Amino acid sequence: MQDAILAPSLGEAYREHFLIGAAVNACMLRDEQYRRLIGHQFTSMTAENEMKPERLLDREATLALADPVRCALRFDQADRMLAFAGECGIRVRFHTLVWHNQTPRWFFAEGWSDAPDAPLADAETVLARQEAYILQVMEHVNRAFPGLVYCWDVVNEAVETTQGGPDGLRTRSLWYRAAGPAFLPHAFRAARKGRAEGQLLFYNDYNSYFPDKREAILKLLADLQAEGLVDGMGMQTHMDLSRWDLPAFESGARAYINRGLDLHVTEMDIHCPGADEESQASLAKAYGGFFAMLLRLEREGAKIGCATLWGVTDRYTWLRSFRKQESYPLLFSGDLKTKPAFDSVMDAVKAF
Ligand code: GLA
Repeated sequence: MQDAILAPSLGEAYREHFLIGAAVNACMLRDEQYRRLIGHQFTSMTAENEMKPERLLDREATLALADPVRCALRFDQADRMLAFAGECGIRVRFHTLVWHNQTPRWFFAEGWSDAPDAPLADAETVLARQEAYILQVMEHVNRAFPGLVYCWDVVNEAVETTQGGPDGLRTRSLWYRAAGPAFLPHAFRAARKGRAEGQLLFYNDYNSYFPDKREAILKLLADLQAEGLVDGMGMQTHMDLSRWDLPAFESGARAYINRGLDLHVTEMDIHCPGADEESQASLAKAYGGFFAMLLRLEREGAKIGCATLWGVTDRYTWLRSFRKQESYPLLFSGDLKTKPAFDSVMDAVKAF
């Protein structure tokens, strides 16, 4: 165990292969130790929440605009994170433009009403709002921080195989209810308009290696690819050590790669309820095997852009705060030391 700030840097060790990312939140950035750790260890950053629609949309200011389509946005939190990334030389995955979660209902409602039962605006209005939102966000970020964002998660989690429609789309989503399946290609068309040169457009989802879900996603992406709208697949990779199945993940990843898509691991963690030596040794083995697999895929020609961990230390993880689970799922401990899992990820690249 080493002090994470003095230990060798993962981002540096993987520099010639792919970016090593972390999901970061505003609370971490108020702590100087975390700032130093993130700046030292990582080469890519994703905002845990600060760039999601609910954080950017400003209802009061939107009402004041008195426009049925254009909404007002606030970028204070997002800008602080982007500025931090810029100062550290870390590149940013922007997460996420279109998602059924963490997007307020009023965004879809007639007259921007926040009444819980307000009627939804018609499809044309909602799609116009979507485009206006996407263009406004991209324009702001690319103007204020040129060159910082390398990838946009354009649409997150649109597929639901269990309760989805015939095309596999999540029919319960307000995007789907208000605008139908058109919301997906429409979002990518807007993002293609708004992106700066070199920026990648991604679709992102969880359990995306499960065969049913993978097939549904591949079908949707094939249509987008035919129009030149999507560059890659973001595999979230929230895993559980008790159900660890690397071959299944690898064959899922290969299916996307074989379709000519870039691959990003966007939200990796491995739920591990034990802090004891044995549990953490198993976790380390899983991480080591996973990164060795990514390196192998890359050597075979896959375009692996980044591997992002969903969090920095075991102290701040959504598995604790949101899922209320005792979990030690990441590479650094709560006291900012490297864990055996960190060593395994380092060993994987050294052995390569
Ligand atoms: C999903 C989202 C992330 C995050 C996690 C849980 O995977 O894509 O933004 O909210 O859930 O923290």
